[in-house]
Amino acid sequence: MGRARLEIISSPTAMTAWSQRLSSRGESIALVPTMGALHAGHLSLMRLAAQRANRVVASLFVNPLQFGPREDFARYPRDLQGDIASLAKEGVDVLFAPAAGEMYPAGFQTSIRVAGLTATLCGRSRPGHFDGVATVVGKLFNIVRPHCAVFGEKDFQQLAVIRRLVRDLDWGIEVIGHPIVREPDGLAMSSRNAYLTPAERSAALCLYHSLQLARNLVRTPRPAARPLSGEVLVGEIAALISSYAAVDIEYITLVDQHSLVEKEVIDHDTILAMAVRLGRTRLIDNGRLF
Ligand code: PAJ
Repeated sequence: MGRARLEIISSPTAMTAWSQRLSSRGESIALVPTMGALHAGHLSLMRLAAQRANRVVASLFVNPLQFGPREDFARYPRDLQGDIASLAKEGVDVLFAPAAGEMYPAGFQTSIRVAGLTATLCGRSRPGHFDGVATVVGKLFNIVRPHCAVFGEKDFQQLAVIRRLVRDLDWGIEVIGHPIVREPDGLAMSSRNAYLTPAERSAALCLYHSLQLARNLVRTPRPAARPLSGEVLVGEIAALISSYAAVDIEYITLVDQHSLVEKEVIDHDTILAMAVRLGRTRLIDNGRLF
């Protein structure tokens, strides 16, 4: 990266033509799908992409299909000029920024559903959300035809859904996960953090503090006869989060990192996943406990 200027492409056919031209010359292409309002977490994904392929395409599309009727599609933060400047500085080769009408022209009626993995966690409270994600990512894969694609572990259910999708539909694209990028005080970076009032911003730390509490509890030696149960751990976290004003718990769940099935045993494959609401803002976080 860093050789040429950022090229901005908005037409899907022009995007495919660019990719075909580069691929036929033997270049490898990494795709980083985003909804924009880019922060340091997104930019870190761009850098990982540049290590894994010699061309990086970032896509920017606020995908209406993945927002529920009462969700924040209309007010989702948008900063095209800021995003262009950030991507140019990172040396990204192409920004693919299609218009909604190009992605979903009149008559569009196809949906991709990854059934099992989406029945829990965020899928339970956001019906249809992951169908919207799978459908748009499927379209982006077909339009950009990348060799690999980078997604953040912050949305670890999304990452699991996309890994499944690529395997199930034989896309042959390498899906690369990137660790969660956090603010200095531990809050996971998110475009939605921009919604938070100062009081909500402080309360949002309940998520990171929960991860720290869970890790401390898991690492504290206990008598072999009384191992820490998942139920007790979740109870301790619920008590901690409830001590923060104006935070509503949506879920606190221990799951297997691959199957996303809830588990009672806490081991190296266990992920603590949480979703909370602060006023109108929904935040998620997760992490391994060992
Ligand atoms: P968006 O929320 O913009 O996120 C784009 C990518 O950045 C996702 O892979 C997400 O997991 C990653 N990301 C966001 N915050 C991160 C953080 N703090 N640390 C690490 N990675 C982070 O996720 C979406 O958009 C959409 O659902 C999309 C995949 C683009 C489909 O519309």
